[in-house]
Amino acid sequence: MADIGVLGGSGFYSFLSGAERVELDTPFGAPSEAPVVGDLDGRPVAFIPRHGADHRFPPHRVNYRANLWALRELGVRQVLAPCAVGSLKPELTPGTFVVPDQYVDRTWGREQTVYDEVVHVDAADPYCPAGRATVIASGNVVPEGTMVVINGPRFSTRAESRWHAAQGWSVVGMTGAPEAAIARELALCYTSIAVVTDHDAGVETGSGVTQAEVFEAFQHSIQRLQQLLRTVIPQLAGPTTDCPCHHTLDGTAVAPAVAGG
Ligand code: ADE
Repeated sequence: MADIGVLGGSGFYSFLSGAERVELDTPFGAPSEAPVVGDLDGRPVAFIPRHGADHRFPPHRVNYRANLWALRELGVRQVLAPCAVGSLKPELTPGTFVVPDQYVDRTWGREQTVYDEVVHVDAADPYCPAGRATVIASGNVVPEGTMVVINGPRFSTRAESRWHAAQGWSVVGMTGAPEAAIARELALCYTSIAVVTDHDAGVETGSGVTQAEVFEAFQHSIQRLQQLLRTVIPQLAGPTTDCPCHHTLDGTAVAPAVAGG
């Protein structure tokens, strides 16, 4: 069992000591990969590579519901979710870590909910306040910003990118939604750590964004990201600490089954 979950790139396999694979299924099918549960400075942590160990799932094919359900089955209450993003502001240069406080979901055709019952969760402030505060206090990060999540798999056109930037949004990614919404539906604390890998097409004056550029830049940031998580994880509140995120289902029909489970 683990109370902290990490959804990230396969670079995190080396991160946990004594890690063991846990084979499990969910009502939504298999997660991207069997979770591994290991130890980080005495805290049990579960990890799932969002895109699969061999990066076989593109953002629109990731089984976000199964990944989060699997983490919850393992006892996870807090999720840290690093992801690669493009920058919509010249000052947010590659290598910058942003802790978004808002997102705009421009994805489509993805499974958005784990419920068939009538369950409407509050998404006004979609990220965990305590998790964000811990990350912000722990590292050299930009402490706020709106992440727009596009469906991909292509990158934005220059016009789309300029439009996103004109809204005042900070970064653009492909995996932040519906991941955050589903975490909220499962009454999980969820904190996004957006790793800037490129300037998006509207900021970039030359050619557009390439996959190779994004993958290479993310690899460059992996060590710093691991270091940040090593600092953050021991400081996260313990499993019995209450958080508003754990009460998102209060008053709904599924509250006893999910919140109490
Ligand atoms: N992920 C990394 N860079 C990106 C970009 N420019 N647009 C969308 N997703 C990204």
